[in-house]
Amino acid sequence: MYKSLSLSFMPCKAMLQPRARITRQDSENFVDYRTKVARNPTMERLQRNYLFPEISAREAEHMEKYPNAKVISLGIGDTTQPLPDVVASSMANYAHNLSTRTGYRGYGAEQGCKELRKAIAETFYKDMGIQGKEVFVSDGAQCDISRLQLLFGSNMSIAVQDPIFPAYVDSSVIIGQTGDVENESGRYRNIEYMKCGPHNSFFPNLSKAARTDIIFFCSPNNPTGHAASREQLERLVGFAQENGSIIVYDSAYAFYITDGSPRSIYEIPGAEKVAIEVSSFSKIAGFTGVRLGWTVVPEQLLYANGFPVINDFNRIVCTCFNGASRIAQAGGLASLSKHGYKAVISLVDYYKENAEILLETFESLGLRTYGGVNAPYLWVHFPGSNSWDVFNEILEKTHIITVPGSGFGPAGKEFIRVTAFGHRENILEASKRLRSLL
Ligand SMILES: Cc1ncc(COP(=O)(O)O)c(C=O)c1O
Repeated sequence: MYKSLSLSFMPCKAMLQPRARITRQDSENFVDYRTKVARNPTMERLQRNYLFPEISAREAEHMEKYPNAKVISLGIGDTTQPLPDVVASSMANYAHNLSTRTGYRGYGAEQGCKELRKAIAETFYKDMGIQGKEVFVSDGAQCDISRLQLLFGSNMSIAVQDPIFPAYVDSSVIIGQTGDVENESGRYRNIEYMKCGPHNSFFPNLSKAARTDIIFFCSPNNPTGHAASREQLERLVGFAQENGSIIVYDSAYAFYITDGSPRSIYEIPGAEKVAIEVSSFSKIAGFTGVRLGWTVVPEQLLYANGFPVINDFNRIVCTCFNGASRIAQAGGLASLSKHGYKAVISLVDYYKENAEILLETFESLGLRTYGGVNAPYLWVHFPGSNSWDVFNEILEKTHIITVPGSGFGPAGKEFIRVTAFGHRENILEASKRLRSLL
């Protein structure tokens, strides 16, 4: 039976250090001391822990139990290959220049440096009418998802794909857009969950979806690996237009698309009036630790009263962010240069080859496996099983970490997600172990 790990509050040692002349009795009282501040009820509403820290905790627990085991992580989707030299050197040079009187720079533009905004627009949105001034450089897509929630506020209604990357739902709960969770279904009240699975080609039945203000849509999807087709995205944009909704389109894995499916929502005519796009250098250029992403808010996207959304987002960025690190931006710019771009494409190709190896492994075992072609994730079906049981069994018997599908929403309960981010030798070893287990 799955039991959630409870990270209850433990005062750290430093907090308990007695100051001079505080008696033992005083310090014991200090341990029990509580403020009079009530916990934010929306934080209380959140279920368990955020998925990925929980997976890390389970990995640590397993390593404690089997200290000699060679654990392979196909769990958290974190990149493993070194940064291309051209990218790392540009950041090192930039950092070094900051140590000189002439090269030193302080705050930059809150929206990101002009050159990088232009390079993003030209590289990823060529012929789509997106201009540099509509691109806001950030410290990653996940941070921008929360900033967008701050922009929308607690009165917005939202829809999400089910299963889905948990940040949209959790940030929605935190900002106060939802009701409590329904214990039987694991769903929060006031969120429209749009079920996506093999039965509907991983695209929601929009004729059954309720109207919401905001529609979070991720393609290629994390966790299923499905990239929405042009025809599917045309339907999505049409649905948003009919309902007067705003799509928040997450294209963090767009670079992995190989089959000609759109890499941006702005490939669909009319999307500039109904969609915001968030994206990231994390999985393109190995920037999960460097931290760099962007959000596109087209000037043509308007609120009901005709006010441009971009003006409010600009205000949020200026007030709540203050701009991405200049060093990270130098790296981002280098990764879009001629040499840098070639190098990052080969990084993506490396992970795509990993995905092919894993896809072949699961398919040869007779398991229905989705994704892995347009995304660095595989979505493996274990009909009739509980995903936490599958996760535990694979971990116990092969020392391989995966992610239980139910962590991405109720529709993931019979699936596990497997990531193709990893060193090739680990992917090959994982493939061998899985073949012998299954
Ligand atoms: C769909 C999706 N969006 C956003 C992110 C976070 O990206 P970043 O590292 O830019 O915050 C992830 C990370 O795994 C993701 O899977």
